[in-house]
Amino acid sequence: MCGIVGYTGPREAYPVILKGLKRLEYRGYDSAGVALLDGDLNVYKKKGKVAELEENMIGTNMHAHIGIGHTRWATHGEPNDRNAHPHLSQSGQIAMIHNGIIENYAKIKKDLLAKGYNFKSDTDTEVLLNFIEDIKKNNNCPLEEAVRIALKRIVGAYCILLIDKDDPHTIIAARKGSPLVIGIGKGEHFLASDASPIIEYTKEVVYVNDYEIAIVRPDELILKNLGNENQTPFITKLDMELAAIEKGGYDHFMLKEIFEQPTTIYDCLRGRLDTEKSTITMSGIQQYADKIINANRIMIIACGTSWHAALVAEYIIEELCRIPVEVEYASEFRYRNPIIHEGDVIIAVSQSGETADTLVAIENAKQKGAIIIGIVNAVGSSIARVSHAGAYTHAGPEIGVASTKAFTAQLAVLTMAALKIGLEKGTITKERYQQLAQELADIPEKVEAVLKTDDQIKKLAEKYKDARDFLYLGRGYNFPVALEGALKLKEISYIHAEGYPAAEMKHGPIALVDEDLPVVFVATKDSYHEKIISNMQEIKARKGKVIAIMTEGDTVTPTLADDIIVIPEADEIVAPMLSVIPLQLLAYHIGVAKGLDVDKPRNLAKSVTVE
Ligand code: F6R
Repeated sequence: MCGIVGYTGPREAYPVILKGLKRLEYRGYDSAGVALLDGDLNVYKKKGKVAELEENMIGTNMHAHIGIGHTRWATHGEPNDRNAHPHLSQSGQIAMIHNGIIENYAKIKKDLLAKGYNFKSDTDTEVLLNFIEDIKKNNNCPLEEAVRIALKRIVGAYCILLIDKDDPHTIIAARKGSPLVIGIGKGEHFLASDASPIIEYTKEVVYVNDYEIAIVRPDELILKNLGNENQTPFITKLDMELAAIEKGGYDHFMLKEIFEQPTTIYDCLRGRLDTEKSTITMSGIQQYADKIINANRIMIIACGTSWHAALVAEYIIEELCRIPVEVEYASEFRYRNPIIHEGDVIIAVSQSGETADTLVAIENAKQKGAIIIGIVNAVGSSIARVSHAGAYTHAGPEIGVASTKAFTAQLAVLTMAALKIGLEKGTITKERYQQLAQELADIPEKVEAVLKTDDQIKKLAEKYKDARDFLYLGRGYNFPVALEGALKLKEISYIHAEGYPAAEMKHGPIALVDEDLPVVFVATKDSYHEKIISNMQEIKARKGKVIAIMTEGDTVTPTLADDIIVIPEADEIVAPMLSVIPLQLLAYHIGVAKGLDVDKPRNLAKSVTVE
């Protein structure tokens, strides 16, 4: 939520910041803006996407060697030019950008209004900025000191970058709850919400921790905590190539990421799954294997698509490891009073590793003695760092706002972990383990085969793009896949869609069925197949239009369905990694057919760092 970029060094700052904002636009695209300091401190900002800002900048003086930029996902104040970041302090001396929410801003604003401050925007950010300026003025102290004092009095989440007219080479940055990465160049520094704006210039980065303040100059990076003690910056080498964050010839990131899945699943299995030696190597899981085996229950905490992956994992872990699993929405978990015992195992699933609800939920659980295992895609992210152990999904940067390749990589990791624990616990036989390990190893090739249905799905999208509602039905391992298919369609095409367990449909949603309602059945060959065929008949009897995702060789489904998508046969435990792909493609092509911006669907943002 919100992308921030900063630069200080010998280059022209504006092109670096603009490119960075384009790379971070998936984090929010309600408005964009830059502040450039070159003697004068100039702020340019515009409602809408970064391209609109760029257009607006033509003909202005863009020359500067220091600057900050922001792409916004609105929280306080509607998306308009006025509320766009950067904000300027009352005196015009300081510019600031912010990703997060200041919860106690109303009280601070009241005090500042009483002191005669005026506000040009409705944002919590402008309040924090003037609060900092007020402290600086009253204490006659450097900006760094004023930021430190202000942040001690702030409730909420933030990553902030500030530049001060009086200190023309320095960016002051701080974070709590919202991510910040600093790239270290030769005589220059780059700051951003993630590494994508930085990778082109340097691979050496520092992930700033919560409650740290960075004083960043071209040739100097000083990190301090809120107690003003120096912290040693821990330099990490980025393991990411520029190509991974570019479209590579595809029309959209979403399509590129769907088509990357044979590789991303392979990368996720590579070095872990060895079918010849019949081993699965996952050091993070191994370290806690005893605790997991002896756990009375496992809780999995996640949001959105990651929550759907967690639901599939619930079925898999209970089947293979015979350990009770509860799957929780992070946003619910963190605000109720969950019963957590010392030694409970909690798995956090997150693509970005920055989702605020998931992060706070696991921090709370950790304090109560739970063991936290993070299944995370973004390397070095907050959830990865808070977890005791875990496994990265290695899907590479996911830029399309709708999550696709992260889901299948999460399933691959969770299935490997369940297989490993099941074998060590003795709840699956060696033969079943070997069979499933081979099934997993075969998935990348089978995904290639599923992707060949793309043209056919494009035609289906044309046929159904004007439907008002969709129903997605599945059973067993495919029930969460139905939920995921409905979520993808909603977010990309703005068509109302519901996912349901196929049998539960009789208890209400069947009332929606008529000749205009497309019903997508995720009906692969599994132990529920006969049952789901009965559900299909119930829909047909009411004239619903059936689109079926079915397994090669199934002769019954084609006699009932109006349209079929055929995918390769696979064991039911690994089948969701295949059955979800036609649903991703269907949502994508319907969104495109409706002329929508599928990479940046309205109101959404990737990496939800606000609660
Ligand atoms: C859906 C989507 C969201 C995310 C959710 C969790 O396509 O992208 O529902 O899955 O915001 O995000 P992570 O996995 O980053 O914690």
